[in-house]
Amino acid sequence: MFKRIFKALSNNIAIDLGTSNTLVYMQGNLILDEPSMVALTIDKNGVEKKILAIGKEAKEMFGKTPKEIEVIRPIKDGVIADFYITEQMIKLFIKKASKFKRIISIRTKIIISVPYGSTQVERRAIKNTALAVGAHRVEIIENVMAAAIGAGLPIESSDASIVVDIGGGTTEVGVIALGGLVYAGSIRVAGDRMDEIIANYIRSKHGLLIGNLTAERIKMAVGSAHSSIDNTSMEIHGRNLFDGLHKKITISSSEICGALGETLNQIATTVKQALEATPPELSEVLLNSGIFLTGGVSLLSGLDMLLSEVTQLKVTVAEEPLRCVAKGCVAAMDYITTNKIYIKNN
Ligand SMILES: Nc1ncnc2c1ncn2[C@@H]1O[C@H](COP(=O)(O)OP(=O)(O)OP(=O)(O)O)[C@@H](O)[C@H]1O
Ligand SMILES: [Mg+2]
Repeated sequence: MFKRIFKALSNNIAIDLGTSNTLVYMQGNLILDEPSMVALTIDKNGVEKKILAIGKEAKEMFGKTPKEIEVIRPIKDGVIADFYITEQMIKLFIKKASKFKRIISIRTKIIISVPYGSTQVERRAIKNTALAVGAHRVEIIENVMAAAIGAGLPIESSDASIVVDIGGGTTEVGVIALGGLVYAGSIRVAGDRMDEIIANYIRSKHGLLIGNLTAERIKMAVGSAHSSIDNTSMEIHGRNLFDGLHKKITISSSEICGALGETLNQIATTVKQALEATPPELSEVLLNSGIFLTGGVSLLSGLDMLLSEVTQLKVTVAEEPLRCVAKGCVAAMDYITTNKIYIKNN
């Protein structure tokens, strides 16, 4: 009986606090997967007052709110931009996911992922946020390490694995062997930048004003990273830049592919730099295993082809790429207790 009580009190929570999406696993089960968005009321002096909605509900409100309401993303480029709101968002997510049961207990351990390039100050802030949510212990793991574990790569092996995680705010590349990061690189360029570029392109080329959420939908529906992808198109609606009236245009994947060229180039360069920095003894192994892609942008049509062409390596999109980091955090909890992976935890 005591054992059962002890187990009930020792909930382990894994959190992937992403720029675009927050995922929460509790005792190995996915209990929440929602956009990292918060809707706030603003008083007439521009001061934020209270949280109206979080997650999907807040995303639904984006771009449609009166001026007294603002929808924000408290995580920018993978790091916390607003500590108080992030803490409240996590608390509300956990409360929502637990269906009003108390799941944070005196023995709750939280493991949370951070971008590779994040500073000590940023790491401490994330740790403090998780402590403020009520955890009694907080572990931090780097996104690429979690992504590699979640993608099922043999991270403990002396044979290297390479993983590229492309989310909303960051692109991270990690070369992993013997449970540690042999090389890691990160740029704060990923899916959000693509949305901005698509919106700017449509404004300048077609004279149509669209929001970033519409741009994201275009990226997902007809976005492409390689010219050999079948050219599909979609109709989009927006406001005419010149007369302010409603306008509709058709946009094709080849146009989006062209517009995204520079961003795709930056991502490809980051991957190439990782390969160049990999010790020659490990490079040979990478020829067989290839590169694994995780994160939402790995679903962009033709991205695997582009990276394969640039690196001359096989490129595989991991299973459930949007969940790899969170699943890796869950598994990392076991690795940490057995000291099988090296984690900078400060
Ligand atoms: N099918 C798709 N095609 C292209 N992009 C996609 C697709 N599905 C999701 N995305 C993009 O993936 C990004 C979100 O991915 P993910 O949830 O991995 O990011 P995140 O973990 O929140 O961000 P980060 O790791 O940078 O902090 C968004 O930019 C989204 O538009
Ligand atoms: Mg991520």
